[in-house]
Amino acid sequence: MAHKPSQLIWHNGHFVPWWEAKVHVLTHGLHYGSSVFEGIRAYATDKGAAIFRLRDHVERLFESARIHRMQIPYSQDDLFDACKQIIRVNRLTNGAYLRPIVFRGYGEYALAPSPQLPIEVAIAATEMGAYLGAEGLERGVDACISSWQRPAANTFPTMAKAGGNYLNSSQISMEAQRHGYQEGIALGTDGMLSEGGGENVFLVKKGVLYTPPTSAAILTGITRDTVMTLAQELGYEVRQQTMPREALYVCDEAFFTGTACEITPIRSIDGLTIGNGSRGPITHELQDLFFGLVKGKLADRFGWLDYVGGGEIEVEHDLHSALA
Ligand SMILES: Cc1ncc(COP(=O)(O)O)c(C=O)c1O
Repeated sequence: MAHKPSQLIWHNGHFVPWWEAKVHVLTHGLHYGSSVFEGIRAYATDKGAAIFRLRDHVERLFESARIHRMQIPYSQDDLFDACKQIIRVNRLTNGAYLRPIVFRGYGEYALAPSPQLPIEVAIAATEMGAYLGAEGLERGVDACISSWQRPAANTFPTMAKAGGNYLNSSQISMEAQRHGYQEGIALGTDGMLSEGGGENVFLVKKGVLYTPPTSAAILTGITRDTVMTLAQELGYEVRQQTMPREALYVCDEAFFTGTACEITPIRSIDGLTIGNGSRGPITHELQDLFFGLVKGKLADRFGWLDYVGGGEIEVEHDLHSALA
């Protein structure tokens, strides 16, 4: 999905105009995938924009950086504040998609870079609709099992949300779309279900929810955790369980979870219709609870919303024209 430029990007501690947030072509992260990043959503609520599970996303960003031995030159609180500011300064009152990224910068070709190689940090915020389409949220999407597998545990770390990992995700999604599906689901090297190109997967069978465990080479999604919490609150049993692909062939409902796709029903898998070929009742119930919560319509009993607040943000004088 194409994004519409906003006005300013936070880059290494400063706001810069959207088109001036640039890097050198020899940036380490560009060559070796040495970046870690997050995708975060903010929603419009009656009290202004609120960022969903911001602390958890910033924490995961720091964990990803630690796994790849990158020292982020800011504190978690600094980035927490910067995320709120970038929404306010761009006046994204209708909600936003935030993309914080940490990457090894310019200066060396070394695969084992010296501590002198800079670590850069940027945060962009744009408007964003439903990742797999607004219709997908209601009617569901067609998915297939990918011929690509998720990486084996000791190849590179799947727990880190790192740029390089997304070459695998891209192959999964590109292959699926080439064959007329909206998304692909990969198996692990053990042949068991893992996750979608950019989403975690759930299925429902006889009223119980199942999702592959952390050991299935998945990114441990924050939406996955949200859905497990909400499902349990609704009284459903949730099992993190290793499953073969055919578990999806015989389930009653299935859906993807992710910050971008939110909760998107899967209506068919490898050409086999799931349930009634549309959004299942438990998926619908979870969506209602999820959207009620993120949009501030239901009580924020888990402390998941961070309101960005109002008022003008001070910017340097030469940026006023970018904001005009
Ligand atoms: C590969 C992959 N799996 C799962 C997810 C879902 O994670 P989250 O719910 O934290 O966005 C994402 C999205 O970030 C992803 O890229």
